[in-house]
Amino acid sequence: MNVAVIGSGGREHALCFKLSLSKKISKLFCIPGNPGTDSICENIDIDPLNFDLLYSVLLKKDISTVIVGPEIPLVKGIVDFLSEKSIFTFGPSKKASQLEGSKDFMKKLCRDFNIPTAEYESFDNLLKAQDFIKKSKHPLVIKSDGLAAGKGVTISNNVEESIKCAKEILEGKFKTSSKVVIEEFLEGEEASYFVITDGENYLPIGTAQDHKRIGEKDTGLNTGGMGAYSPSLLITNDMQEKINKKIIEPTIKSLNTIGCSFVGILYAGLMIKNNEPKLIEYNIRFGDPECQVIMMRLENDLLDLILSVKNKNLNDQRILWKKKPCITVVASAKGYPEKYRTKTHIKNLENIENNFTQQLFHAGTIKVDKKILANGGRVLNATALASDLQEARNKAHQMLDLVDWEDKYFRRDIAWRAIK
Ligand code: AMP
Ligand code: GLY
Repeated sequence: MNVAVIGSGGREHALCFKLSLSKKISKLFCIPGNPGTDSICENIDIDPLNFDLLYSVLLKKDISTVIVGPEIPLVKGIVDFLSEKSIFTFGPSKKASQLEGSKDFMKKLCRDFNIPTAEYESFDNLLKAQDFIKKSKHPLVIKSDGLAAGKGVTISNNVEESIKCAKEILEGKFKTSSKVVIEEFLEGEEASYFVITDGENYLPIGTAQDHKRIGEKDTGLNTGGMGAYSPSLLITNDMQEKINKKIIEPTIKSLNTIGCSFVGILYAGLMIKNNEPKLIEYNIRFGDPECQVIMMRLENDLLDLILSVKNKNLNDQRILWKKKPCITVVASAKGYPEKYRTKTHIKNLENIENNFTQQLFHAGTIKVDKKILANGGRVLNATALASDLQEARNKAHQMLDLVDWEDKYFRRDIAWRAIK
């Protein structure tokens, strides 16, 4: 069977690495991919958002199964488009993708079906939003309704800042949003929880701790994620049971009730306080960089799990994990998430070993004249499995220390709360 992964980041490199181990795949493609995926499968350099072109390429390459990494193609309806043409595409439909594509949709679902989350109101009118802000206790969390590439959330400490943020969102700062969602600020510790579901049944497929801030000890601006480890120490068996019963099961059920069954990877971003989980947000895909650590630890053939979603026999599967924990440390270009350079030369990558316990996944890289250049904010993900988190982190640092790149920046404290 020929299989294609859609996307070009570290998450997609990790998915391709895992899928490249499947005996069921005759040929693996990544669309468009990056220099890392190029070394383990065939990249096809087209824009996957051009669905007609994508379909013609899939036909030409005899690709029958498509696995979608990022949220944008899902929100734009890639699954509906390709499924109609009889290509099995793993991920949620356009309608179900609103769970990530619209915070208002997600919050309303939680409110209507009693799923624990922060209290909220949403507005398309500035005067009403201002009134609400003035009456509310701060800090408040101000969010754009639609996708905003991780930049749509502000934690505001005062009325002026909240009004400024709400105004910017309603005036179209994020083109995807005509609504602002204003939420209660939740305290606690965050964790990422993943399930794979066929719309009825589900299996937990990993837990992780992401590190969203650019600076050590979780300071500075929010980013797409500067590192992660798995499993999350916060999600004990008891906690997992609570999350499943109070959040995951009601979500899957309620989406069926409103006629948009969810198939694919459901990623719950959670806040845990006093042993109680609350939902911060839903994503409709694997996290990046959480996927990198989960793929290194997963024992199962990933394609088998995905095909059991297609064949509706997910309940026959058991997910197995390597005992060792895994860490990924993201190397970004100096200056990210603000201004940073691109097209800088990254050297010595050929001297870094990749094997089953360590992988240097590529994210924002590009190959020009046989040279690897940086081509984005988050550039490389040093990912290592070891007996404990400290040793895993040392291995990741050793990999990144070997990378010869003038603009290299990475946090040396990933998992600082877990490594005392
Ligand atoms: P989101 O895009 O909704 O995941 O928000 C990005 C980040 O903002 C989250 O990972 C949290 O760290 C923070 N955040 C979002 N909503 C809240 C909330 N209601 N209370 C506290 N922190 C939040
Ligand atoms: N690491 C956060 C995300 O993938 O949304």
